[in-house]
Amino acid sequence: MTDQAASLRVIRGQRRDTPPTIRTRQRAIAITGGKGGVGKSTIAVGLATAYVAAQSRTLLVDADFGMADLNLLLGVAPTRTLLDALDGTPVEDVLVTAHGITLLPAQNGSYALATMGSGAHRRTLDLIATLSAQFDTIVLDVAAGIGASQSAIAGAAADQLIVVNPEPLSMADAYACIKVLAGHQGVRHAFVVPNRVTSTAQGDDIVGRLTELVNRFLDVSLTALPAVPADPAVSEAAIAGVPLLAHRPDSPAARAITRLARALDTASTPDTRSDVARGFWRRHLSAGGESL
Ligand SMILES: Nc1ncnc2c1ncn2[C@@H]1O[C@H](COP(=O)(O)OP(=O)(O)O)[C@@H](O)[C@H]1O
Ligand SMILES: [Mg+2]
Repeated sequence: MTDQAASLRVIRGQRRDTPPTIRTRQRAIAITGGKGGVGKSTIAVGLATAYVAAQSRTLLVDADFGMADLNLLLGVAPTRTLLDALDGTPVEDVLVTAHGITLLPAQNGSYALATMGSGAHRRTLDLIATLSAQFDTIVLDVAAGIGASQSAIAGAAADQLIVVNPEPLSMADAYACIKVLAGHQGVRHAFVVPNRVTSTAQGDDIVGRLTELVNRFLDVSLTALPAVPADPAVSEAAIAGVPLLAHRPDSPAARAITRLARALDTASTPDTRSDVARGFWRRHLSAGGESL
């Protein structure tokens, strides 16, 4: 068996061992990838919608603090944001619900949130940890970039999902993102989702090349999840301000994200409800002051 085969698991939605439904279980997933515009928010909202449809109580955190856009994708206009919660407003009063998803909103254009320091990140993780017992699924939509902020937030979740698209820069940034998560957050495993692919072969090629790089230089194993195709329905849904899976459930991208959610359900780190909170604490405390 080659190194690549040993450390790469491929999970395809079509395989017979993929369960037809999503079980309600506890999970905390950070959606990241280094580069902006690769589809992190699209996939974060898509997964949240799929888990809600499966009766999983789902918290979606807009961790792209200063360039927040999940409220737009969900078609809500929150009156309060994470900034208020950090200023002392009870976090429950900041949460908004749309399409069954509970959103912890950030604030687009907020310089204060975009540039907040390590103390504020720690308090943000504390707020999420406080909420975690009320939810089965927590999805963190992490900002682009590989700085201390993004890696501390991504590293706090039990699982990391790296979104990568066919552009060479995306591949380079995905690799950089995994490298930083390994070096600064102790991450030893990540999920990979090729997005905006025009063929299955293109998705396989992306995964193959990224795996080769990671195997060569990093002590991280990758699990490939079903790819999401390029699909105009994605931007149609964004313009409508309705989650793709609600707006165009039969579109190719929506179906692929549903397959992705099922595959991830099988493969995600199995947590009990209290372990979700513990997962946050473990990562978050082991990250130490420096990387927060
Ligand atoms: N599978 C896809 N097919 C077509 N367009 C997509 C797809 N995924 C994302 N997009 C588009 O790409 C842009 C960036 O997506 P977004 O989810 O906001 O990325 P990120 O959160 O990584 O910055 C958006 O305009 C979105 O509509
Ligand atoms: Mg985004």
